[in-house]
Amino acid sequence: MNDPAAFVTETIARIRAEVPGKAIIAASGGIDSTTAARLVQKALGERARAIFVDTGLLRAREVEHVSEYFRASRLPFEVVPAADRFFEVLRDVTDPEEKRRRIGAAFIRLFESEAERFGTDRLVQGTIAPDWIESGGALRDTIKTHHNVGGVPKDSRLVLVEPLRDLYKDEVRAVARELGIPSADRQPFPGPGLAVRVHGPVTPERVRRARVANAIVEEEVERAVSAKTISRPWQYFAVLLPVRAVGVTGDNRVYGEAVSVRVVESIDAMTATSMDVPRAVLKSIAERITRELSGEVVRVLYEVTDKPPATIEWE
Ligand code: XMP
Repeated sequence: MNDPAAFVTETIARIRAEVPGKAIIAASGGIDSTTAARLVQKALGERARAIFVDTGLLRAREVEHVSEYFRASRLPFEVVPAADRFFEVLRDVTDPEEKRRRIGAAFIRLFESEAERFGTDRLVQGTIAPDWIESGGALRDTIKTHHNVGGVPKDSRLVLVEPLRDLYKDEVRAVARELGIPSADRQPFPGPGLAVRVHGPVTPERVRRARVANAIVEEEVERAVSAKTISRPWQYFAVLLPVRAVGVTGDNRVYGEAVSVRVVESIDAMTATSMDVPRAVLKSIAERITRELSGEVVRVLYEVTDKPPATIEWE
């Protein structure tokens, strides 16, 4: 794609041809689905409805942030609360691909009922090229099943509409600028949410720990960026590991959990480099996580692996 204005005009025409009636849009608050949503809304107007699912696997203050972002992008939307349902389908699941499959299926079931309520069978997603390439569309092995790809089971009556499926991230940003969508002030966040940052069982308790740890990493890294101690990384987050470790609080031995912190630089997420974060920043992160999750998390590790051979997320 060379010309964002031409892409917008052509895509609006394509959406009108592809969607004769109404459509619902899976809106995550990320730049991809917001851009897809604006294009569809421009094409269909009142015949489109954007839906944001509160999975219970979101980051701290996510619903508020996303709602503000939609308003700034002039996107009408609806929030659907569904935490109980997601914790239910994830009960006792530890395999990363199984988590992704179940989350994908739960999203689809939810969108099926929303679509029925709205009177349509068209579901718009903000899938972009790296999503389906990494889900096995072009590579021999499936690296990860991105939750927004391939999640539509054969028996579903939903028809997918993916206006951005041939674009890469920088191209999506150019289209977003063309549409007057503000650049997302938050870093990319995976569709399956904190479920893929909680290794092992996904319980409300463990997700809460991951949420607190992620918020601390975000705050401390953003503070370092504002102070110009480091340049803005591509992504910075915490992962709750599937191991336990011994620690001490006061005079007590604690058998707690461990968190790994990941800060990476990247251009398009296809490759990434672990960032050389100053020790002082890492120390504040470790101190805050073990203090604010006292007795729950007793170790904080920093990850130095690049992509490849690792991926950006752990699961
Ligand atoms: P990986 O971990 O594969 O991640 O190196 C590459 C980029 O994609 C994000 N990511 C996802 N985004 N649905 C998404 O929309 C997903 O299932 C998903 N999994 C990973 C990840 O945060 C990184 O930016």
